This record gives sequence, C-alpha cells and structure tokens, in this order.
Amino acid sequence: MDGLFITFEGNEGSGKSTQIKILAERLQAAGKSPLVLREPGGTPIGEEIRHTLQHSATNGAMMPETELLLMNASRAQLIRESIRPALARGQIVLCDRFIDSTIAYQAYGRELHRQTVQQVIEIAIGETQPDLTLMLKVPVSVSEQRRSARNQSSPKTRDRMEEAGRAFFERVDLGYEELSAANPTRIRVVDATVSIESVAGEIWKWVGPLIDEPDLEGEKTYKSLGEWKTARLDEPR
Ligand code: TMP
Repeated sequence: MDGLFITFEGNEGSGKSTQIKILAERLQAAGKSPLVLREPGGTPIGEEIRHTLQHSATNGAMMPETELLLMNASRAQLIRESIRPALARGQIVLCDRFIDSTIAYQAYGRELHRQTVQQVIEIAIGETQPDLTLMLKVPVSVSEQRRSARNQSSPKTRDRMEEAGRAFFERVDLGYEELSAANPTRIRVVDATVSIESVAGEIWKWVGPLIDEPDLEGEKTYKSLGEWKTARLDEPR
C-alpha cells in the first residue's frame, strides 16, 4: 500500500511546527502512526548537515551554491533512509519543509539560477514527490514580529538562515506565492494569521478526506488530489 506524503511550507514564524504537532496528534487519534520529519535534518547525517547550515560557529562564509548542495545532500539521505521506506510501509509522512523551500530560499532568496536549483533537487528526490503541500501563509512583517518575539522569549542558538535581510525574505515570499499559483492542486495555501485552532481546522479540511474521513469540502479535495495524481502519471518526466 502506498503511504501519504504531506509537506509543510511557509516562512519563519508561520507556525509550521505547532501545526505539524497538532496534525500528528489528530492522525494518531484516528489510529494512524505518522512519521514526522524535518528538513534540513531528519536523519543523523541530515542533522549534522543542518548544524553546518544553520548553527555552526564557522558557517559565516557559506556560499549560496554550498547551501543549495547541502540542503539537497540532507534531502537525498532523508528520501532514501526514511521517506521512501515509510511510504512503502503505507505510513503517512509529515515533513517540515521540502522542495518548495529550496526553490523559494535558494532560487528566489539567494537568486541562484532556477534551472540549476531544479536539477539539484531532481538528483536528491528522483521520482518522490509530495502528495499534498500545506503552505502556511503570513505576511513578511508578521513573520518578522513573530521571529523577534520568539527570540526574545527564548533566546536560541544563532541561525545563519535568519541573518538575511528583509529583501531576502520578501523574495522568498514571492517565490512561495508563485509556486502556489503554479501548483494550485498540490499546494494548498492556508491563512496562518488566524488562531492556532482555526489554522488546524483548515488543515484538517485538506487532510481528513485523504485518510478516509470525508466531509463535504473534503470530498472536493480528495477528488482534485486524485485528479492531480492521475494527471501527474501522464506528465512527461
Ligand atoms: P526551520 O527548520 O527552523 O524552518 O529552518 C530551516 C531553514 O532552512 C529555514 O530558514 C529555511 C531554510 N531552508 C532552505 O533555505 N532551503 C531548503 O531547501 C530547506 C529545506 C530549508
């Protein structure tokens, strides 16, 4: 049986981790055992790469190309070590960030050539694509406020990725916007400025039907996701 691969995207402070936790608990309550992963990271090798990318004291000179390759080195490992085996077992995989992050951050944010970025992603993922991507959307200004509030209340280790300026995050935001416009069936945009409960409810509208708990709106989702899956099989690779 094929599992279900769901990815979460969004800028810093969009509440992805909170929502993934809520969704995982809800899936568990429905009798599923979801596997929760994050990128970069998610495997012992990937977590070391994450440290190099984000927290290492000596990562200040990292080049955009190095960043692109390291993100995808972590991904190549995660796909083969965890994601594919879990999907083959029929498990639901929830992944905090995936390929859309690379396009938004490395192609739009760092302004690397889009085609090069795409090629590197292909080496990392092969044929493994998400079935559904939930994109949590908050304006850049809200993301900035939430990030600084979080850093004040619990000062965490330095994160090189968060040192980029506002123009970078505006480009990332534009990247996400264009990606969701270009992939309207795979990527579902969720307004993440509202309460945690409302966001969780919105997410469940998309996920519930996929695990055989259809509701009226969900039937539509399921149908369009099914159509997308069928369409994808016909697409040239
Ligand atoms: P986070 O796990 O706290 O969201 O941090 C991950 C950071 O890495 C975040 O700034 C986004 C960034 N990132 C990329 O730039 N490219 C990628 O492909 C991925 C997966 C993450």
